[in-house]
Amino acid sequence: MEVIIQPEESAAAWLVARIIAKELRTNPHLVMGLATGRTMEAVYEELVRLHQEEALDFSLCHTFNLDEYVGLRPGAAGSYRAYMNRHLFSRVNIDRRDTHLPDGTASDLDAECRGYEALIRKFGGIDLQLLGIGQAGHIGFNEPLSALRSRTRVKQLTPTTILQNAPLFGRPGKVPRRAITMGVGTILECRRCVLLATGREKAEIVAKAVEGPITSMISATALQLHPWCTVVVDEEAASELKGGAYYRWVFANEPEWAEFRLLKQRRPSGPGPTARTPRSPRRRSRLKA
Ligand code: GLP
Repeated sequence: MEVIIQPEESAAAWLVARIIAKELRTNPHLVMGLATGRTMEAVYEELVRLHQEEALDFSLCHTFNLDEYVGLRPGAAGSYRAYMNRHLFSRVNIDRRDTHLPDGTASDLDAECRGYEALIRKFGGIDLQLLGIGQAGHIGFNEPLSALRSRTRVKQLTPTTILQNAPLFGRPGKVPRRAITMGVGTILECRRCVLLATGREKAEIVAKAVEGPITSMISATALQLHPWCTVVVDEEAASELKGGAYYRWVFANEPEWAEFRLLKQRRPSGPGPTARTPRSPRRRSRLKA
C-alpha cells in the first residue's frame, strides 16, 4: 500500500484523475472499476475536463461499478446508474453498453450477483478499481463483518450508511435498505486499486484502514493485502495518520511519482467540445459477440 497526501481536496481528486488518465492512455481497452459518492464527483469532473480539453478517449474502455441499490430502477434519481450518467457517462465518449452496474431490480438477485461476477471474469478482470470509503470503513457496500473473501452479493446497509447517504434521497426513510455490492474478494482481485478519501470526517477511518489491524469490521483494511493499492488523501483526511512523514518522503522521492509531483496547474477552462465526441471508427470490443 502507498499513501499520497495532497494539500487539498481538489489536488487529491486531480491526482486520482491523472492516474486513471495515464492508465487509460496506456491501455485504451482498460476495464475500470468505478465508485460513487460525493468524493468521486471531483474526479469525474476532472476526467470530463481531460476528455474535453486533452482528448482523453473513453471509446474503447469498459466500466464496472462497485454497487447499486436494491429496488431502484436505473432511471431513479438516487440510483447509482443515474449518478454515473450524470457525472461521467453522459459527458464523455463512452457507449452506455460498455458501462455495467448490477441491476438492483432483477427478479433473482442472487443470479444477478453471480452474473455480474461472471461478466467481470469474461472481460478479463478489472484493471483499475477506483474506491471511496464510507465513514464506517466500507468499500463498495461491504459493511462491517463482510467476509474478506466475499463475492458480489446483496448486503443489508447499516444505519450509519443509510444516514450518510440520505442527502441523495432527501431523508433517511427513503434510502433503500439493501444493495448489491462487489465483494471484498472481488475487489482484491483487481490489478490495481486507487482509494480516494478527503475531509476531516474521514480522518479517523482512513488511519484505521491504512495503519490499523486487518479486520472484517472495516472492509477497507483488506486493501493492506492488495499488491498494488494507492491511497490518495488530502491534508484533512491524513490528519490522524501516524506515518505521514514517511508517506510524504516516498511520494517526494519515488521516480514513479515524478510526473505527478508537478504542482497542479489549473488552466482556465476553455469552451471545449460540448457535443458528445464521436466514437472512434476503430472501436473493437474486447468481447467476441
Ligand atoms: C457509498 C458508496 C461507497 C462510497 C461511500 C462514500 O456508501 N457505496 O462506495 O465510498 O458512499 O461516500 P462519500 O464519498 O459521499 O463520502
